[in-house]
Amino acid sequence: MKVLIVGGGGREHAIAWKLSMSSKVDKIYCAPGNAGIEKIAQCVNINANDIKGLIDFAKEEKIDMTVVGMDDPLVAGIVDEFEKENLRIFGPRKNAAIIEGSKAFSKELMKKYNIPTAKYSTFDNYDDAYTYVKKGDFPVVVKADGLALGKGVLICNTLEEAEAALKQIMIDKKFGESGNKVVIEEFLTGPEVSVLSFCDGKTIVPMVSAQDHKRAFDNDKGLNTGGMGAFSPSRFYTKEVACECMEKIFKPTVSALANEGREFKGIIFFGLMITKDGPKVIEYNARFGDPETQAVLPILETDIFDIFNACIDQKLETLDIKWSDNASCCVIMASGGYPESYKKGYEITGLEVCENKEDLFVFHAGTKIENGKIVTNGGRVIGVTALGENLEEAVKKAYDTIDTINFKDRHFRKDIGIK
Ligand code: AMP
Ligand code: GLY
Repeated sequence: MKVLIVGGGGREHAIAWKLSMSSKVDKIYCAPGNAGIEKIAQCVNINANDIKGLIDFAKEEKIDMTVVGMDDPLVAGIVDEFEKENLRIFGPRKNAAIIEGSKAFSKELMKKYNIPTAKYSTFDNYDDAYTYVKKGDFPVVVKADGLALGKGVLICNTLEEAEAALKQIMIDKKFGESGNKVVIEEFLTGPEVSVLSFCDGKTIVPMVSAQDHKRAFDNDKGLNTGGMGAFSPSRFYTKEVACECMEKIFKPTVSALANEGREFKGIIFFGLMITKDGPKVIEYNARFGDPETQAVLPILETDIFDIFNACIDQKLETLDIKWSDNASCCVIMASGGYPESYKKGYEITGLEVCENKEDLFVFHAGTKIENGKIVTNGGRVIGVTALGENLEEAVKKAYDTIDTINFKDRHFRKDIGIK
């Protein structure tokens, strides 16, 4: 079988690697891919948002299945367009991907179906939003409705901060059309857990839990990033919490979407906060998380190509999805300066340390090949994932490995999995 993966980050490298383990997959293509993916797949120079270009390619190469890693093409309706052409694709249609594409939509859905989440109000004009925050308590959370590269959520401790946030989003249109509406939410506290799940529209199977580290520096200091590391499983996601999430959040979300005529086939990523009143949804994503996927897929034992097929064919309940008992830790090595400005083009050395190891993986994100050498080509450069019998062992292995991988101005957090 021939599979095309859409995207080119660490998440897509992890998906490509896992697919390459399947005896049913003969050839993998990735658009656009990166220097690491290049080793196990054929990278094709098509932008992940060029839906027409991707369709032409899938037809020409007779691709058997396309797997979409990124949010933008999903929210834009890539799955609907592929299906119109009778091309097999794994991911939610546009009317289901909206759970990530519009926070106002997902909040309304949760309210209608009694799914636990923070209290909120939605506004489509600045004056009403400002009048509302003036009357409220602080801190308050201001969220741009649409996609904003993970930067559209602002936690405001004072009225001045809330005013500035609303101005940025609604008047200055910092996130473009995504700021036409805002969701203003009550501030919740508690540990955060990411639970990615396979879903076929009827059945939902959660993966092992993970914890992301969004801030740039140790002890959650510095700016928010795409994610500086993740580990799995989360110690806060106990069996009891998992059962509560299944009954009050996961199953109700799947049936709510089906009931609204928005059947969801693909990955639902639940961003959860374990509050003193129980788990609540902070956000939904309609795709695999990054870096969570880099921590989670190495512990998956079942053939992922079978799982994707079962989701597309609505046969997920017939599969017994298995996970190893290992813990995993993924540490992201980034370019110095990220998430602000940084330089690219530095040679990366020492990558061979992970070759042919069963418990160590390097997943590439911002890398490319230049004059036969692998060089940095983005903010997040690589993710180093290590497996261990317990978290401590996985953390130690990941950091020992990082010691031997080098590039100029490399930056990584030293507290992933330690807190
Ligand atoms: P989101 O993009 O919606 O996941 O939000 C980004 C981050 O903002 C989350 O990972 C949380 O740390 C924080 N956040 C979002 N909503 C809330 C909330 N209602 N209360 C507290 N923190 C929040
Ligand atoms: N790690 C958070 C995300 O993928 O959105």
